[in-house]
Amino acid sequence: MKTTTILLAASALFLAATGSSLGADVHHGKLLFESPALGGGTSGKTCLTCHEHGRNFSPETMSKKQYLVMGNPVASLAEVINFCIEVALRGEAIAENGEEMNDLLAYLPVFIKNNSTKAQ
Ligand code: HEC
Repeated sequence: MKTTTILLAASALFLAATGSSLGADVHHGKLLFESPALGGGTSGKTCLTCHEHGRNFSPETMSKKQYLVMGNPVASLAEVINFCIEVALRGEAIAENGEEMNDLLAYLPVFIKNNSTKAQ
């Protein structure tokens, strides 16, 4: 009985520790992409406003070594997303390793793949 309790507690701890990396949620990423409230945005824009049909995205978007966003060199995809949140959504940057960022990053490839063949 005691052993079972300890085992249960241990696996719960394990799940809690690994949950964030295993649990990237593509569907939630889509909701965030279409939400004007992402990062407490105040401009009324969403990611979709400017990136509908994958506008400004390419198959290389997920793997570039450096990004140029509105003339500004930006080093990583997470920083690009925060740049767009701050400048375009007029919100606050979200945590680069946080759940929302993970979900957005998980959604982007689906979005790019689904839209890259459509007319812009
Ligand atoms: C007001 C319009 C606008 C909004 C809203 C916007 N972006 Fe952007 N985004 C841009 C522009 C412009 C670029 C850079 C295009 C360029 O300079 O080549 C860009 C670039 C990007 C890139 C890099 C693409 C590449 O291949 O270099 C990503 C990823 C991206 N945005 C994600 C997002 C996300 C996620 C959101 C929502 C938080 C968002 N954007 C909201 C305008 C916007």
